[in-house]
Amino acid sequence: MLPSSRLDRLPPYLFAELERKIAEKKAAGVDVISLGIGDPDTPTPGSVIEALARAAADPGTHRYPSNRGRPELREAFARFYARRFGVELDPDSEIIPALGAKECIFNLNLAFLDPDSVALAADPGYPVYTGGPLLAGAEAVLMPLVPELGFAPDLDAIGGDVAERARLLYLNYPNNPTGAVVPDGLFERAVAFGREYGVLIVHDASYTETTFDGYVAPSFLETPGAKDVGVEVFSLSKGWNMTGWRTAAIVGNPDAVSTYWKLKTNIDSGLFEGLQLAAARALDDGPPAEMPGIYQRRRDLVCDALREIGVDVMPPKGTIYVWAPVPEGHTSASYCELVLEESGVVVSPGGAYGPNGEGFFRISLTVDDQRLSEAVERLRGSLGG
Ligand SMILES: Cc1ncc(COP(=O)(O)O)c(C=O)c1O
Repeated sequence: MLPSSRLDRLPPYLFAELERKIAEKKAAGVDVISLGIGDPDTPTPGSVIEALARAAADPGTHRYPSNRGRPELREAFARFYARRFGVELDPDSEIIPALGAKECIFNLNLAFLDPDSVALAADPGYPVYTGGPLLAGAEAVLMPLVPELGFAPDLDAIGGDVAERARLLYLNYPNNPTGAVVPDGLFERAVAFGREYGVLIVHDASYTETTFDGYVAPSFLETPGAKDVGVEVFSLSKGWNMTGWRTAAIVGNPDAVSTYWKLKTNIDSGLFEGLQLAAARALDDGPPAEMPGIYQRRRDLVCDALREIGVDVMPPKGTIYVWAPVPEGHTSASYCELVLEESGVVVSPGGAYGPNGEGFFRISLTVDDQRLSEAVERLRGSLGG
């Protein structure tokens, strides 16, 4: 058996050593608390589950879906974007449902990249922005995100040759893993960059509905000219506690949306129609209103505890993560191993999200309050003073 050479292009799996240590701890009977993965612990809203049950009972939803999506879902996305962001979308040409943002982002690489072309990807960033281009046979060029620039890429620093070969540029605000919200002017600069170099700007809006302290995240498509050069990938996973439902959409530039559709008709057969109708209900209801408050409380719990153990952390205004610098004398990996060793708590090493993530670690706020309080007490107890 010979796997394809394209799989060899993927970087080594950086969580491997940590996962081995976690397994070791569990085998030794330690009650490990994982703050590693960003998967909401709170259930999907009841109204959405009821809508799914009703739709699933209708045999009209049981056949192959169309990859264009049911009009009910596309229209619900259009209503949501109009209400939430003031962005007008044409449900017939500017919206296609996706099987989660991950599928959509991965397939955009196949749809837009050739072997000599480039995707510009944030470093640190969601791994599909770099793995996707490699699997598409192209190149991912990293754009460093550093605290001094508010975790915004410096688009002026992208060399002419790279910019000329670039076909895609990924942005994501509120940002995983840094928790940063979009710095002033970045979306406008991205529109100008897209125009100058003919690059499709892809904004991953996975966390726009999870924000704190009164901050309201914008859509990239609110930016003048954005629809001429870009698309947004909007997911219900995090905001609606629907990670398992695999429900998202690509919205924006109609040519890009239709290119994605053309690729997708050759790859999958779309989203179960019952799910599409339930997702329409979710969009019309809006995200569960209590979630930002829940995460904000957890964020404060974690940030207070980190400060007490000497970690210099900035509370994020969005996402479901806290991103913090590792104390002096540690690498990301060595600090995460120390935290696991001393407290039985799993946090993610920043280096796993790209070279510029080195020196940081990420805590996910997606365990229930009781477990999170216990994790925090353990950190205080074992690493404090
Ligand atoms: C930035 C970002 N984009 C996309 C995803 C995946 O979203 P989905 O569940 O819609 O595939 C994640 C999941 O963690 C993410 O952090």
